[in-house]
Amino acid sequence: MQIIKAKPGQAQEISDLIKEVVNEVLARTGDYDDFEIGEWLKRTTAEAIEEKMQSREIFVAVEGEKIIGTIALENQRILGFYIKKELQGKGIGTEMLKFVENYAKENKFGKLDMTSTPIAVEFYKKRGYEDLGKVRVKLGEAIMTETKLEKQL
Ligand SMILES: CC(C)(COP(=O)(O)OP(=O)(O)OC[C@H]1O[C@@H](n2cnc3c(N)ncnc32)[C@H](O)[C@@H]1OP(=O)(O)O)[C@@H](O)C(=O)NCCC(=O)NCCS
Repeated sequence: MQIIKAKPGQAQEISDLIKEVVNEVLARTGDYDDFEIGEWLKRTTAEAIEEKMQSREIFVAVEGEKIIGTIALENQRILGFYIKKELQGKGIGTEMLKFVENYAKENKFGKLDMTSTPIAVEFYKKRGYEDLGKVRVKLGEAIMTETKLEKQL
């Protein structure tokens, strides 16, 4: 597996991966209603991903030619972190998190933070992120409750 900066030509494949994880993992947790999932999907089209590449660093984990995970950074903020459904729980997310932590250290960000989905809160806590409590996050027309976490680097 290799972690590299995503290219605009990979926007469709990244979009497909995110849609699959939103539909087949997050929508099944019971943490979101149909409206929230709909708003989420609207913001993950290939066009939206390509536009986001202007303001964030999007990284992808690739195995051969295939994208198996993605994570993004906008300054010190982790965004858009998804691992292909059938490959979750195998350590790929941990490697991607370490990758962005090293990137953040090299670029002297000082810390990393994110607002986490309910299912990923324990994942971050086990990896040294401090739980700063619940926050309301706007996603399109939906307002969701997520947990803010951060780690000093
Ligand atoms: C959260 C996520 C990025 C972690 O990536 P990953 O490759 O599954 O992570 P790892 O295999 O390195 O570690 C998984 C850890 O989380 C737990 N876990 C979370 N979701 C899991 C899943 N669907 N399957 C298996 N394990 C899961 C594992 O038990 C493991 O626990 P550990 O801390 O005791 O090691 C990934 O599961 C994912 O894409 N989840 C859905 C999208 C999401 O919620 N993203 C976070 C946005 S803030």
